Amino acid sequence: MNKKVIIIGAGGHGRVVADIVRLNGDEVIGFIDDNKTGFVNGCEVLGTIKDIGKFDCYYFAAIGDNATRQKIMEKDVKWYTAIHPSAVVAKDVEVPNGVVIMANAVVNPGSVIGKGVIINTAATVDHDNVIGDFVHLSPGVHLAGTVTIKERTWVGIGAIVINNVTICSDAMIGAGTVVAKDITECGTYVGVPARIRI
Ligand SMILES: CC(C)(COP(=O)(O)OP(=O)(O)OC[C@H]1O[C@@H](n2cnc3c(N)ncnc32)[C@H](O)[C@@H]1OP(=O)(O)O)[C@@H](O)C(=O)NCCC(=O)NCCS
Repeated sequence: MNKKVIIIGAGGHGRVVADIVRLNGDEVIGFIDDNKTGFVNGCEVLGTIKDIGKFDCYYFAAIGDNATRQKIMEKDVKWYTAIHPSAVVAKDVEVPNGVVIMANAVVNPGSVIGKGVIINTAATVDHDNVIGDFVHLSPGVHLAGTVTIKERTWVGIGAIVINNVTICSDAMIGAGTVVAKDITECGTYVGVPARIRI
């Protein structure tokens, strides 16, 4: 039976997730958003964050901010998993509920994906990576083999992380950055090679 899904967050990210839900033959029955009313993409905004759980269906937290997404996903509802049909996910990789893997993304064998992770358009996660809970890999990010990204870190569009590197939790890796060594201190990093930006 098709799954019925409410998407939390009716912004651009939410509309991309809605598209993935439909491509998988499931049904978006509406959005939940604190700042929007009316219709988005032909679907009604059914309520606000306080209404999560009111409807008997799956939910998806389409919230870009990692800490906010984590907070929302503390709610005990059925969380949907959204994998675009063009994404390539190795057979041995488990994809927990609440994760989105977008168009043309690749996740290679031996990798571990945490809860509420976003693997955005055309991002690649090579073999034996560990992607912590609520991490966001933006479009076009490339992680080489045996990379670890800890909880809630945001890797910006087009960034590259070379093999065997670990990045701590709650870091921000700017667009186009190349991370060539471990990052152990939380902060914003930009450049080639990555340097902390005070
Ligand atoms: C790193 C980042 C978070 C910094 O944002 P910010 O704090 O608002 O920084 P500002 O835009 O004020 O820029 C401050 C300085 O850093 C530089 N800078 C910003 N981002 C940079 C980057 N990715 N690489 C190199 N330099 C960068 C700016 O040019 C500016 O330099 P200046 O002081 O010489 O003028 C942001 O630029 C970024 O890269 N975001 C990622 C966006 C993304 O991936 N979006 C995808 C969403 S799906």
